[in-house]
Amino acid sequence: MRFYLTTPIYYVNSTPHIGHAYTTIGADIVVRHHRQRGDETFFLTGTDEHASKVARVAAEQGLAPQDYADQIVEKWRALPERVEATNDFFIRTSDPEHKAFVQQFLQRIYDNGDIYEDVYRGLYCVGCEAFYSPADLIDGRCPIHETVPEEIEEKNYFFRLSAYQDKLLALYDAQPEFVLPRFRYNEARSFIEGGLTDFSVSRAGQPWGVAIPWDESQVVYVWVDALINYLSALTYARPGEDLEPAFWPEVRHLLGKDILRFHAVFWPALLLAAGYEVPRQLFVHGYLLIDDRKISKSIGNVIDPLELIDVYGVDAVRFYVARVAQFGHDGSASVDSLHERYENELGNDLGNLVSRTTAMIARYCGGTLSLVPRPDSRVAALTAPLADDVAARMDVFDITGALERVWEVVRELNRYVVERAPWQVAKDESRAAEVDEILYDLAEGLRIVAVALAAYLPTTAERILAALGQPTELDWSQVRYGLLSAADGIDPAAPLFPRIETPASA
Ligand code: MSP
Repeated sequence: MRFYLTTPIYYVNSTPHIGHAYTTIGADIVVRHHRQRGDETFFLTGTDEHASKVARVAAEQGLAPQDYADQIVEKWRALPERVEATNDFFIRTSDPEHKAFVQQFLQRIYDNGDIYEDVYRGLYCVGCEAFYSPADLIDGRCPIHETVPEEIEEKNYFFRLSAYQDKLLALYDAQPEFVLPRFRYNEARSFIEGGLTDFSVSRAGQPWGVAIPWDESQVVYVWVDALINYLSALTYARPGEDLEPAFWPEVRHLLGKDILRFHAVFWPALLLAAGYEVPRQLFVHGYLLIDDRKISKSIGNVIDPLELIDVYGVDAVRFYVARVAQFGHDGSASVDSLHERYENELGNDLGNLVSRTTAMIARYCGGTLSLVPRPDSRVAALTAPLADDVAARMDVFDITGALERVWEVVRELNRYVVERAPWQVAKDESRAAEVDEILYDLAEGLRIVAVALAAYLPTTAERILAALGQPTELDWSQVRYGLLSAADGIDPAAPLFPRIETPASA
């Protein structure tokens, strides 16, 4: 199967915070899992640079927008690197190849007759980079940014979105899983049913952006420019190769709930108008909240994900992303709750189990793992449904449910150690074979867990396998009982998640 996954491209008017890391890590977990299953994957992330708010921040710093973007983009490139996201390409909307593609794309819609000129009068929120009708506002203010939008009147080019209502509804009928979770599908669908108004795809008097090909006095509306990245990237991500035939429309978009309409309504309509197929699927996640408010630079409740990684390590932050809330719903994040999960779940449940198991293999078996699988053992039964259960959840982007499923096995393995008490059995020399069997099952359970967790905890998974003398074989077929390799020289493993005395201050 081909699996192309995108994150939204991030505005470069400020630096990354934990909310952005949330999207990128969530996407990376899904894509790593698909790679383990042998899918041909392509993973895209990048930056959205032609926003008015970007030009504004640049001006405040006395820089030309491009120079400003060239500087700050390094902070955004560091985000996937530091969270160990395995993106295949990092797109910038200021890439010349992207800009040329956007122009071609718009020209196609223009030539097809779905773009016309008109005067736009209305309210524009620079924070959202979106137009609002008065009914959308709360006390005259943007519901997200709580700022008063600007009144704008200008000549613009409009996209005939109203002509796409029936086609979009037909798409929603034909692809009942077009948008996940289901409540977001319903939300998008009822928005379409409510009637669609044409929207402006250009802005006048703004020098920062991609010029409208047939009227250089206007630039392409930043959202249109940005959405097209998902397609343009395929044409130049690998020099000399066009990935579009392979990966379009095998694309899945991951996005936050704030940008649902752009992706679920505008984007498929624009694609249809330009003669392209629509994406396979959208998955919409919720917000990470602090003090019940969305994390945002303007509200000032930002947590720097890179600082958290410095303190807790990248795997702990990745784990937290999947665990903090049911993916798809909002959740409250805090450094304290990260700290608690680090200690209890990673440190105690998983880390201690690895330490104990390796220590017992070293002590009672001279560091040698004997191959004594028993297809009727408790651990065999426990792990038998795991591969399919996790895959089924991952197929619907349920990174939280899939992780919980693996954690059930981790907790069961902990129970198994306590109940079988190998340290007691080892006191009786006539029961040496039983000790071997218990430790085989623990090691095998941990090997399976490590492979199943590799998408979440890439470094930890490798460390667990190494501690058990196992090759780094992460193919999904390895999530099966009885595949443990013989090993000797196993030493007690160093703690995977050492204690951290003071929680990170953020
Ligand atoms: N540039 C647009 C996206 C264009 S995609 C063609 C944009 N950028 S953004 O930087 O503001 O946000 C990017 C993503 O980060 C969105 O999916 C948004 O939901 C997500 N998040 C930003 N803050 C967030 C939280 N506090 N919690 C979860 N995700 C959040 O929108």
